[in-house]
Amino acid sequence: MANFTVNGQPIEVDANPNTPLLWVIREHLKFTGTKFGCGVGQCGACTVHVNGTATYSCLTPLSAVEGSEVTTIEGLSPNSDHPLQKAWIAEEVPQCGYCQSGQIMRAANLLETTPNPTREEIVAHMSTNICRCGTYSRIIRAIQRAAREV
Ligand code: FES
Ligand code: FES
Repeated sequence: MANFTVNGQPIEVDANPNTPLLWVIREHLKFTGTKFGCGVGQCGACTVHVNGTATYSCLTPLSAVEGSEVTTIEGLSPNSDHPLQKAWIAEEVPQCGYCQSGQIMRAANLLETTPNPTREEIVAHMSTNICRCGTYSRIIRAIQRAAREV
């Protein structure tokens, strides 16, 4: 049995301690905004926050989040009005959308630690997240827009 919080709510999950957090989030808790891309830490589609740090949930075993605070895209803001979410809409970032919750969670981590990132800092920070639709330039613009609001 693992005990932790997801989006501020206490959670108790009865699963194998080696179960990837990604599958606990999606299958046990039904927070399906977090996506499975590669499963091996190469794409970033599964990015969530664990104790405030952007983390690949596909590589994180359930046992590693005991007592932790996990945040998924569903918990980033109560009304989906995080400055990044508004900027993503304003810049019309997504194409297929599959990678985008991971991109936003990764970007949110950047703005928490670096409220006014340079373009180079944005590119370096976001290099962990792949977009097969190639929305990179719009992602950068959206992060810059959100940074101006924050
Ligand atoms: S699914 Fe986790 S990094 Fe690709
Ligand atoms: S929007 Fe399609 S993979 Fe990024």
